[in-house]
Amino acid sequence: MNLENKVVLITGAGLPNGIGAGIARCFANEKAKVVVTDLDASIVDETATSLPTDALGLVADAASQAAMGEAVDKTIDKFGGLDVLVNNAGVGGPTLSQVNYANDPEEEVALFGMSDAAWDAQLMFNLRTTFSSSSAAAAKMNDGGSIVNIASIAALGPATGLPAYGAAKAGVVHLTKTHAMQLAARRIRVNCICPGLLWTRAWEMLATNMKAQQTEFANMSIRQVFETVVARSTPLGGEQTPEDIGNLAVFYASDWARMITGQVVAVDGGISVK
Ligand SMILES: NC(=O)c1ccc[n+]([C@@H]2O[C@H](COP(=O)([O-])OP(=O)(O)OC[C@H]3O[C@@H](n4cnc5c(N)ncnc54)[C@H](O)[C@@H]3O)[C@@H](O)[C@H]2O)c1
Repeated sequence: MNLENKVVLITGAGLPNGIGAGIARCFANEKAKVVVTDLDASIVDETATSLPTDALGLVADAASQAAMGEAVDKTIDKFGGLDVLVNNAGVGGPTLSQVNYANDPEEEVALFGMSDAAWDAQLMFNLRTTFSSSSAAAAKMNDGGSIVNIASIAALGPATGLPAYGAAKAGVVHLTKTHAMQLAARRIRVNCICPGLLWTRAWEMLATNMKAQQTEFANMSIRQVFETVVARSTPLGGEQTPEDIGNLAVFYASDWARMITGQVVAVDGGISVK
């Protein structure tokens, strides 16, 4: 699946142990040129320079068409075009202040009771990010390119613990199909991946909350909380890795998938089949 000379932009890819950085490594291993974007300026350059390929780190809010438009322009200035967008940026759980949309502590607390503002914020983090980034990128992307959306298994059924997150990710699944039709005339394919359970910052925070709120987890480390959830829910056994997600993203973006568009695949060890 040689992607030499393809230019790939991945949103939310700054954290070294995040899914986005794993996707970036997979594209770099196939010799693509990679643009790492994130909100956090302190991590984008380091992650970009760690890749074994030509790479660029840019700060850009994936939920802003203007910011992503600038990132796309800088990508085209440096690498001469854009072939692949991976919409990875997302926030699962009570991390509002970390992404600087709402610094009001009361809003964070209200996330569990779900205030209107918290609901709106979750939809912005997890659905508008895909809409805004795709809009900005599709306007200038090469015909024949590819968009890969990262949703979640929370999109595929009820998400009682994370209702707004689940609804937003279900929106990503739907938008995948709409954009696949809207961009088909330009042979831009749009596909979706639903990851299962991965030990990233997102799950570190979720496990911290579960430990604090559920007595059965009170005496466990947060890693043990995560491993318990994985063991209970995953038919194949074991967690997924960022590379498990990145390998499918690379396949979707390659010529091997030239007739695949509007599709949704869970990379979850069978969780969503149960
Ligand atoms: N970890 C899991 O188990 C899991 C499961 C299913 C789906 N996902 C999805 O995978 C994606 C990556 O998750 P992760 O676990 O690596 O999360 P993470 O919290 O470890 O990393 C997310 C990254 O996205 C960045 N980000 C957030 N909002 C942004 C924005 N508006 N613009 C630019 N960057 C932004 C953050 O700064 C961070 O670097 C998310 O969309 C998440 O919902 C994760």
